[in-house]
Amino acid sequence: MTTAQIGLIGLGTMGAALAANIADNGFDIAVWNRTTSVTKEFAANAGELAGKITATETLEDLVQAITKPRAIILMVPAGQAVDDQIDALRPLLEADDLIIDAGNALFHDTNRRAKEATGPFLGIGVSGGEDGARFGPSIMGGGDKAYWDRVSHILEAISAKHKGTPCATYMGPAGAGHFVKAVHNGIEYADMQMIAEVYGIMRDGLGMDAPDIGKVFENWNAGPLQSYLIEISGKVAKTIDDKTGKPLLDMIVDAAGQKGTGRWTAIEAQQLAAPIPGIEAAVVARNLSSRREERAAGEALFGPAPRKISDEAVTLDQLESALMAGKILSYAQGFAMIEAASESYGWAMPLPDIARVWRAGCIIRSAMLDDMATALTEHPDRNLMRAPAFADLLKSNHNALREVVAIGTLHGTAMPALASSVAYFDAMRTARGTANMIQGQRDFFGRHSFARLDGGDGWHGPW
Ligand code: 6PG
Repeated sequence: MTTAQIGLIGLGTMGAALAANIADNGFDIAVWNRTTSVTKEFAANAGELAGKITATETLEDLVQAITKPRAIILMVPAGQAVDDQIDALRPLLEADDLIIDAGNALFHDTNRRAKEATGPFLGIGVSGGEDGARFGPSIMGGGDKAYWDRVSHILEAISAKHKGTPCATYMGPAGAGHFVKAVHNGIEYADMQMIAEVYGIMRDGLGMDAPDIGKVFENWNAGPLQSYLIEISGKVAKTIDDKTGKPLLDMIVDAAGQKGTGRWTAIEAQQLAAPIPGIEAAVVARNLSSRREERAAGEALFGPAPRKISDEAVTLDQLESALMAGKILSYAQGFAMIEAASESYGWAMPLPDIARVWRAGCIIRSAMLDDMATALTEHPDRNLMRAPAFADLLKSNHNALREVVAIGTLHGTAMPALASSVAYFDAMRTARGTANMIQGQRDFFGRHSFARLDGGDGWHGPW
């Protein structure tokens, strides 16, 4: 029966949650999964949402169940699976039927798909994990605005709300939505890494146990650092393992997984020559964490780091301030990267709207984002660190960041993300840097020439 207002393909964790969210918001939805048993199980567990869900067993039935002009969301793994699904679906559709890729696609793929598309196509970034998908994600749209406008009423309805405002926004053409999602993930990696580094100071330096560290995060979550990641870090640290009765955090292997979204951001930043050292350091930290055997061999060879820090040497307030400065600097890097992409791709992505769409639903949602949106609206210079409100916060917190990195480094606690953010801050507030030495070296061995302070470029040294 043709009653569905929208269709969805892919009933994995995120797809099933998104489909339930769409039904729960009153839209009739038709669903299909390549494995029929998954579709049947989804329908069987739909409960009171069953009346809004048409479960189909063939792609043809899915298409027929959707009212025209159709819109179909793909929630399939990024990469070839998306292309395969589009190839299977498009021949069944009519000219103005819309395909929406809502997976974690690499934005270059979305650019290509938008260009190759033989019909309407959108790429949307969806953030918030399973809970977000089910109860309100942050949605970042990319593609032709007219196609966004066709489905924005559904996407806004299912999105997270910040004080009643939907966190679903159009970012720009083609891959713009997936690009913004990638930068979101880069900031997410940096946020998570900086929290882990401060956790390391508390655990290894100050000798605090996991539940006490959890209480510290819980306290910080009541202050300016309020955010989803601080909140869950507190809960992770306070959780006791049923099996051993010990803190679960102490039982978790210290090797970070990564599906690659943060890596994409680091690679793209290099292509754009957009400096995002805190984000890149967070990706590197994940790569380093996976080398557990090498790290154990290193400890055996060099001996364990001194680590222990007296609580006069570093205070919890300093750690909170350090995290505040590091967080601001990683957001500043992320927004500056988006600005660089806008210039490079001609997208004009709306920084204030991006800060607003991240205020709820997504993994990096935090109290600071409202002020960031205001700062990016009022402040013509597009680097957040120079926006008055955030410049003031950095002026009052950057020394704590520097002190924590210094003390942690002296005691052998690796702090790549916080350390690179100090370097970013110092580089970005040093008018006369040291790249003149680089230019001299390059000209010496490669005659690459240099500019002179007293005018002109194309100079060579007398070497
Ligand atoms: C989100 C998350 C999510 C994340 C995956 C994989 O916004 O909901 O960013 O999309 O990419 O959970 O995370 P990793 O890259 O850490 O594997």
